[in-house]
Formats: sequence, structure tokens, C-alpha cells
Amino acid sequence: MVLPGDQARLYRPRPELLPAAHVPSLPHYQRLYQRSVEEPHEFWGDIAKEFYWKRQHTGPFLKYNFDVTKGKIFIEWMKGATTNICYNLLDRNVNDKKLGDKVAFYWEGNEPGDYTKITYSELLQKVCQFANVLRSQGVKKGDRVSIYLPMILELVIAMLACARIGALHSVVFAGFSADSLCERILDCGCSLLITADAFYRGDKLVNLKQIADEAIRKCKDKGCSLKKCIVVKHLGREEIAVDGTSSKSPPLKRLCQDVQAPWNPAMDMWWHELMGGASKECEPEWCDAEDELFILYTSGSTGKPKGVLHTVGGYMIFAATSFKYVFDYQPEDVYWCTADIGWITGHSYLTYGPLANGATSVLFEGVPTYPDVGRMWSIIDKYKVTKFYTAPTAIRLLMKYGEEPVKKYSRKSLKVLGTVGEPINPEAWLWYYRVVGEERCPIVDTFWQTETGGHMLTPLPAATPMKPGSATFPFFGVVPAILSESGEELEGEAEGYLVFKQPWPGIMRTLYGKHQQFETVYFKKFPGYYVTGDGCRRDKDGYYWITGRIDDMLNVSGHLLSTAEVESALLEHEAVAEAAVVSHPHPLKGECLYCFVTLREGHEFTKNLTDELKKQVREKIGPIATPDYIQYAPSLPKTRSGKITRRILRKIAKNDQDLGDISTLADPGIIKQLFNSRCDTKQ
Ligand code: WTA
Repeated sequence: MVLPGDQARLYRPRPELLPAAHVPSLPHYQRLYQRSVEEPHEFWGDIAKEFYWKRQHTGPFLKYNFDVTKGKIFIEWMKGATTNICYNLLDRNVNDKKLGDKVAFYWEGNEPGDYTKITYSELLQKVCQFANVLRSQGVKKGDRVSIYLPMILELVIAMLACARIGALHSVVFAGFSADSLCERILDCGCSLLITADAFYRGDKLVNLKQIADEAIRKCKDKGCSLKKCIVVKHLGREEIAVDGTSSKSPPLKRLCQDVQAPWNPAMDMWWHELMGGASKECEPEWCDAEDELFILYTSGSTGKPKGVLHTVGGYMIFAATSFKYVFDYQPEDVYWCTADIGWITGHSYLTYGPLANGATSVLFEGVPTYPDVGRMWSIIDKYKVTKFYTAPTAIRLLMKYGEEPVKKYSRKSLKVLGTVGEPINPEAWLWYYRVVGEERCPIVDTFWQTETGGHMLTPLPAATPMKPGSATFPFFGVVPAILSESGEELEGEAEGYLVFKQPWPGIMRTLYGKHQQFETVYFKKFPGYYVTGDGCRRDKDGYYWITGRIDDMLNVSGHLLSTAEVESALLEHEAVAEAAVVSHPHPLKGECLYCFVTLREGHEFTKNLTDELKKQVREKIGPIATPDYIQYAPSLPKTRSGKITRRILRKIAKNDQDLGDISTLADPGIIKQLFNSRCDTKQ
């Protein structure tokens, strides 16, 4: 429940955090920030010195062009310097910092009781072994390797092994379909795929190898270059006793299942068999700071995924630095990011950022509601998690079950909470703050994108007074601006397009093999700026509020409205569990609001409720925002990473059955139900 005054209030960092904090006050942040944008060469140059460089950089630290009217867009940080990111994450921590015995990951399986851990030196050894395996399979610097694995340690090992030998990894989320995997394999032209037999997500068995095989068949029909497939035996792991990574727990459901992975002897190889014969020493490939590190696909507005490309040096220092400051990383921390490694958050803040800092993390295979809705809090208590990073969609899901499952656990180890992925509505923010963090933990609402590589707008836990729902201020090196439709920079209180004015080290360098599309999507609309595609408001205190994707903006009778704002108003009603609002054509107003709502248990969808909701939005935002249509939704169509697919909801509102590709949805079945219960829009 959001009370009047809750949102206007500033939530200040608690004094306990200050003594050890990297940035203990707002003026301290402002000083560092000023230096980072005025003297980026010196600021990032000092940070780069903490890393190992085989060859130090000489010449300009940063070269770039952000203006399409002046020629090709390019960004180069420290070009000419050579390093290896895997060496910096592992060898440097083991050999120079003596962190060999420190736990790198506590792995928690889908079933409670199925767990293990791996130290930095064990991880280094396995990565070296697998890097040797890759080399023995003919993988070289610059080659692409697709990785289609669940949340298991082999996923991290495989990524770092690629990085060690200078090959590019393209991780494909293990919830994606065969079609999506095939599309990504074809686009990056990889020669090798790494997958697993099968895994459980909650109580659902996913036969991953079967799906991978189907993808490979589809690829072959399209003349693809894929030659080999390495398969991790995950469900039968205990029998093979991979040293150091097998759990010593009693027989588990995972192990009792007799899953026969389909096998093609011409291309399939078992991971454990290859590892058995591999040497534990592996000389890293020394790469230029601007050599390619990985490709990660993200959805594009056309429906075709875009292969975002990140490079070695800039990404390394940006992921490491943002992790350190945004979570105020301390050596004794146990950090847990719930994102899947198939998304950028899992790359930057589960793999590269934490390991670069020598941190101990939790890697969780399962889902928040299995075997019950207290699972997250039980894991926090089990590992004494201090920093916890999750998504608003997970918070809203758990909110539905009330406070009792949270309060069953102590959570007293928690110090900092984080969110990412979408705007967090104030009600969810306040629940996270009050119930989960017991008003003790600051919330870092981190705004960023696959393309930005790391955090762009975010509070720092001990420095920034927070406002629920605002991502607050720019991170170091980030210069935001708000532009009007005509490209004019708006000062002070304003709302418009969020852009960035100068490069930060973690910015993507191109779309893999599609540089022209890269320029068009991100740099053409407003020459001289990187365009995020998000709308943003700056309030009188200079706080930034993301209002949602620009394509989620709508214009009602000449007034610009953000669907996120209306959703937030709906969510404040006690009956509403989730809300999604889309724009709908209207003969008089141009566009109007069509809302989908899911209800909390114990509430019914009645005419009375619809009237109350309309009134609520009218009161919260103004008569202009009064919804024309409110439809009951048993659930909402979402991508597997939990993002509501408003593109599809717009089509449902219009009764347009031409939906395009829906294979990336978590539950395509809901769509038919929503079409059948549409509001009558012909009145
Ligand atoms: C949205 C995820 C509001 C935004 C790291 C962005 C957010 C898109 C936030 C990128 C936030 C992410 N507040 N909106 N804290 N974080 N977004 O590429 O629309 O999966 O453009 O990267 O998510 O999603 P992506």
C-alpha cells in the first residue's frame, strides 16, 4: 500500500553502511562523477592500472565518433594494449591476490539439498582444462562458440574458457526454443555448440539436448557451419563424479531420472570425457583491448534478434567498476544475482563483474516458487547473502503471496538490494524495502541495457538518497541527456528521449556483422547521441525516472503518456497483482488506453472494480489518462526473462491475429484466452 507522502519522501542510506563504503556521501559521488566525465582518460586510466596488461596502452586512451553525419560510428578504448579477461578474473586473483581458496560460486540446484561450491583455484583449473578442450577441437581466436546451458557451473567455465583462448561466446538462454537457438547459431556462424542432457526448472523437465538437436537439424537445412556439439551430463552427474563439482548429497530427483539424451556419434561428445584427458595448464591468448569478447542477442523492434557485440578491455573495466561501486562490494560479501546468465545481467553481474573483484557469489539453478514461495529467502539465509540483485517481476510475483513466506526467514545478513530490467512501480519498491529489507537495506534500481554492458543510471548504496521508482543519477562516465522530438536538449524538469552524449567503456561496439543496422538503430535519430529507445523524466531535484520504452509511450489528445505510469497507478489498487497497458487507436483522441490486469487472490473482476480502477487512474494521473478499456487477464504473455510483451497485447486489443514470432514467450497458451475475452472496442 502506497500512502500519501511515501513517494515524495527521500529514503536515505543507513549510517551502518557508511564507514566502510567506497562512496560514503553524495558530495563524494559528485566529485568522482565530475572527474569521470571531465577527465575520462585519467579516471578510467587509473582503474585500468588495477588490471593486468601484457602490453600497456600507448597513444590515445579513447577514440570515437558518435555522429553519423561525420562518418562511421566507432568507439575504441585503449586500442593497442593487450590483455586477457579470463587471466584478470582468475589467474590474477589466484596468484597475485592469493584468493585461490576463496569460494567463487556457491551453486544451489533446483532441488533443495542439491548444492556444491567451487573455489577460485578450482575454477581456474577447470577453465584451463576446458580451454584446452576447445583448442583441441580446433577452436581459435575469433571463432564463435554457442552455449546453450542451464544455470550450472559449466556455463561459467565454458564462457571463461572461450575468453581465455580469444573465441567469442554467444550464450543462448536455455529457455529459448529450437527456432530461436537455430536463428542465433546461424547469425553468428559458430563452429561448436555446448549444451547439456536435460535439467529441471521447478518441477518441469526440460530435455535440452532434444531441443538442441532439433535446432541443429534446422540449421543444417540452411547450410550452417556447426560441426561439433559438447554435452554436459547434468542429470546424471553423481555417477560420473566430476572432481570438485559433485555434490555429496543423498539421491535426488535430478539423479533418479533416467533421461536418455539423443546421441549423434558424428558430432556429439561428452564434456566429462573430454575434460578427463585435458591438461590443467593453458596459456591465455593475449588479445587487443578492442578484440571481440562476446555476442549476446537481444530482441529488436523488428522482431529479429540483434547480436550485440562487446569487446575485451572496456567491458572488463566497466563491468568490474560498476559491480564494485553499485553493490558497494566488500571482500566478505556473499552476493546473489538471480538473473539467468542467458541475459546481459548474468554476463556482467554474475560472471565478469563479481569475478573481476574476487567476489563470492551464489549461482542458482531453480525458480523462486519451487518447492515453495519461500525459496529465495531460504537461500539468502543458507548462504548469508549480503547483496541481493533481482527483477521487479520477481518481486511482484512474490508480493502476491504476502509477507508471511518472507518473514519465516531471518534475512538479517542482507545489506544492499538491487533491481533491474524494467521500471519498478513504487508499490513493489516499498514492499521490497520494507518487507524484504526491513528498511535497513538501500535499493539500487539500476537502469541499463544489453547494449550498455553495465549500469547507466543507478543509486550508490551509501551515497544516494533514494526515491521509490527512480533510477536516480548517472553512473561514472555516463552523460545522460533528455531530448525533445526535434532533438533539442531539455534542461531542468523535463520529459523526452533518453540519450547518452559520450562513450563509456562498456558500450557495445557494433551489432555482429551488421554495422549499418547498429548506426541506424542507435545513432541515426539524433546525430551525436547514443539513443536508448527509452523515455525518461527528470524531476526538479535532477532525479531520472525511466518512463518505459518509447514505443510504449502514447499520445492521448496531444498529451504524451507513458504506459508505465498508468500501470503503476493500477498496481496501487489492492486488487491488482499485475497490469500491462497498451495504446489503442481511438477515433477522437488519436490513441487511448487499453489495460490488462491480473488480480490478487480473493478478488473478483466486476463492473464495480473496473469503475474503481478507472477512477484510481484518473485521480492518480489526471482525466486524460482514464482507461477506455480494462480487460481481465488470468496471466500476461511474457518473455522467458519475465518482460511483458506489450507488442502482443497491442495486437490482442486490436483483435489482430497476425502475431509474428511468439516462440520466445514463456506461456504462448495464454494468448488464445486473452483473444476470447477481449473488450468490445467497437462501441
Ligand atoms: C528496461 C537489461 C527501468 C529499459 C539490463 C531498457 C529498465 C531495457 C531498468 C533493457 C530500470 C532495464 N528501470 N527500465 N532499472 N533496467 N530497463 O537489454 O527499457 O534486457 O531499455 O537489459 O530494459 O533491457 P535489456
